Amino acid sequence: MNTTVIQRIAQLRAEIERNNHAYYVLDAPSIPDAEYDKLFRELQTLETQNPELLTLDSPTQRVGGKVLDGFSPVRHTVPMLSIRTETDISDQGAINFDARVRRELGDPEAIIEYCCELKFDGLAINLRYEHGMLVQACTRGDGETGEDVTQNIRTIRSIPLRLFHCHAAVLEVRGEAYMSRRDFEVYNERQREKGLPALVNPRNGAAGSIRQLDSALAARRPLSFFAYGWGDIQGWTMPASHSAVLDEFDKMGLPVNADREVVNGTQGLVDFHRHIATMRDSLPFDIDGVVYKVNNLALQSRMGFVSREPRWAVAHKFPAEEQMTVVRDIDIQVGRTGKLTPVAKLEPVFVGGTTVSNATLHNEDETRRKDVRIGDTVIVRRAGDVIPEVVGVVLDHTSIRQGEQHRGEPFDLYQRLGGKCPVCGSSIVREEGEANWRCTGGLFCPAQRKEALLHFASRRALDIEGLGDKLVEQLVDLQLVKTPADLYHLNMPVLAGLERMGEKSANNLLEAITQSKQTSLARFIYALGIRNVGETTAKDLARHFGSLDNLLAADELRLQQVPDVGPIVAESIIAFLAEPHNREVITKLRSSGINWTEHAGEHGMILKLSGKTFVLTGTLPSMSREEAKAALEALGAKVAGSVSKKTDYVVAGAEAGSKLNKARELGVPVLDEQGLINLLDENGET
Ligand code: IVH
Repeated sequence: MNTTVIQRIAQLRAEIERNNHAYYVLDAPSIPDAEYDKLFRELQTLETQNPELLTLDSPTQRVGGKVLDGFSPVRHTVPMLSIRTETDISDQGAINFDARVRRELGDPEAIIEYCCELKFDGLAINLRYEHGMLVQACTRGDGETGEDVTQNIRTIRSIPLRLFHCHAAVLEVRGEAYMSRRDFEVYNERQREKGLPALVNPRNGAAGSIRQLDSALAARRPLSFFAYGWGDIQGWTMPASHSAVLDEFDKMGLPVNADREVVNGTQGLVDFHRHIATMRDSLPFDIDGVVYKVNNLALQSRMGFVSREPRWAVAHKFPAEEQMTVVRDIDIQVGRTGKLTPVAKLEPVFVGGTTVSNATLHNEDETRRKDVRIGDTVIVRRAGDVIPEVVGVVLDHTSIRQGEQHRGEPFDLYQRLGGKCPVCGSSIVREEGEANWRCTGGLFCPAQRKEALLHFASRRALDIEGLGDKLVEQLVDLQLVKTPADLYHLNMPVLAGLERMGEKSANNLLEAITQSKQTSLARFIYALGIRNVGETTAKDLARHFGSLDNLLAADELRLQQVPDVGPIVAESIIAFLAEPHNREVITKLRSSGINWTEHAGEHGMILKLSGKTFVLTGTLPSMSREEAKAALEALGAKVAGSVSKKTDYVVAGAEAGSKLNKARELGVPVLDEQGLINLLDENGET
């Protein structure tokens, strides 16, 4: 045999595993992916050419082996124990444990040293290394006998196939295989793209991956691992404390979580629990609590076990973030912008520290994707301050209880609501490419009142200074104001009765309301808060139609003649104006004295230059650019910044540059100042 090939193979394996360690354990990639792939392929080629040199610890063997019929049972040399759980999730849990340890050690005054760790939410695994080589991996099973899952565990890149500097005849490392939140998201994303079922949570993902008989499939559900304990050990001199053993594991290349901490006494435990609770949501993986372990191994053996649980360790949990419960009904809530959100009404359940009886289903698509139906058993998640959500249906429970054929109907939001907003009865719409249905009753819908009023009064709309959040809140809650039109009936006695409203600010507010009556058509249109009609579109509409009546009379085709108004915007306007409630509010607003100068004649004629686009460039001899712009806009024209095929005229003065060239290129008519003045005269109102 060619010794250089043997050497090269050994070199490549070492190099690849060093990189796996850097990437998956240290989270610090040492070489670019392409370089890694090159090494990997070279090794694969050499092994294919020299099959007698292939060994099980080769990194090429991580990708999956033959499909198994089932997992073989493995009897644990040292039983895999469970851990006692401290039921009190407050600080008291830590206080109780420390008191018990001191009592059992017969030294109530002692300050005990503890190793504190995270409680990972995955699956306990025993890794057996012989002379530093991974020879077997198995699950916990019933604690006495587990299942051989070596092939699947090999696919976990952070688990070394060979330990650094470890000559122990036997070293059994115990820890947790888990799925990171990111790997969970990525996996689910791919499943969704393929229209396949998603995983309910990372824990289930980990369990499913480990229990996959085809390790090539397991490799596609990537897992990670943290070591936190050990089983059988032969031919290795143990350090004196739990934390020192973990440090040694770390040096051997095993993944050991860095958030472990050695602390003293009750206060140390309490602080650790509190500290981890604050960072729980920002960790890249799920945990369900922390674990305290008496650090000194001699003290551990003095304390021993009680019914399969060590006396020297305890799990101190956090409030569970997920629970199972039953969907009683599905309600649809109207958000402050009219968004319709399906909400599951639940059999109340204690989750994430509070009793939850409502959980969001986000939108129609999500509800259908998860196929949540009334009567289903679901998993509800409430993590941190995030609103509770339905994660998914527990199909086993659902179908065991009632059978698939007896499940409720698939969710259909439109049908559920009969096409009407559940709050105000206006029709609902779902635009193309939008995930949400919306209520069209903008100005009228009580659910949207506060938002609609704040928008109406905002600076770029009717600009009512002093009408802020707090005030709107009071006016709506006391039912003093229902629609923007009601603002114009407010008076001193009413305002004086409000909280934090002095005479001076009440006066100022009334003055601001009065002033807001004198406005422009563009501002008025914008203030209505029509979906997809922002400030610019409002200006375009005002310019194009010249009068409110023209706008109110426009059909979809007419609307689409307005520059930049496409089918979506046109549809939003039509939907808004089709609601009698909205029209009623508009009528009331007008009769309350809101006014602006309409440029169109009495017969609703469109301004002469409306629909025409001008571009101004260079310096005009007598008019400033602002004057020219104002004059054009007054006649309904639009003044744009750049020349395109849609430009009707370019007005060019001295030192006109590229815009003038562009106009010539495109054959757009060019006017000088006199040309502009003539045009304004011809089209001006007489
Ligand atoms: S120690 C002899 N430490 O929690 C003590 N367990 O028992 C053995 N777990 O099955 C367990 N994180 O899967 C320990 N840092 C940690 C842990 C941990 C998670 C799991 C382990 C065990 C379960 C409860």
